[in-house]
Amino acid sequence: MKRTNYNELISEIKELIEGVPYPITNYANVAAAIFRSLPNINWAGFYLMEGDSLILGPFQGKPACVSIPLGKGVCGTAIKEKESMIVNDVHSFPGHIACDSDSRSEIVIPMVKNNKAIGVLDIDSPILNRFDENDKIELEKIVQFLADSLPNLVHNI
Ligand code: SME
Repeated sequence: MKRTNYNELISEIKELIEGVPYPITNYANVAAAIFRSLPNINWAGFYLMEGDSLILGPFQGKPACVSIPLGKGVCGTAIKEKESMIVNDVHSFPGHIACDSDSRSEIVIPMVKNNKAIGVLDIDSPILNRFDENDKIELEKIVQFLADSLPNLVHNI
């Protein structure tokens, strides 16, 4: 499998979002850049905190579930624990929410700003064991950069 050139992807993302004060615009461009750059993925996008739920934000891939309660599914668990999660086989994750039946493995990176959980980056793959520790480290850098670039009043869905 071709490895992602994360240095190139991170440079592209920095250029895309530098100086852009519109959060939804930046989420959309980051989702698109990731979707084009990572091989063997079928979905990449954001869920954003609204009250006690994650609400679907900008993404690339098939239409997906609109709302995920805190603590539910991979996304809801990652945001509740404020921990990145790699799921090698989504069928063996209790409570996994199947938005796209093609998905076999998944990585979710929580987005935290000023110690507040504001959303997650979620990426799905149609193959098992798609994501490793290197993906996690590099995607965490991207999410941190994105969170830092957001204004303090983050978003209104
Ligand atoms: N599988 C996720 C739901 C989002 S979709 O994969 C796009 C979950 O279990 O939280």
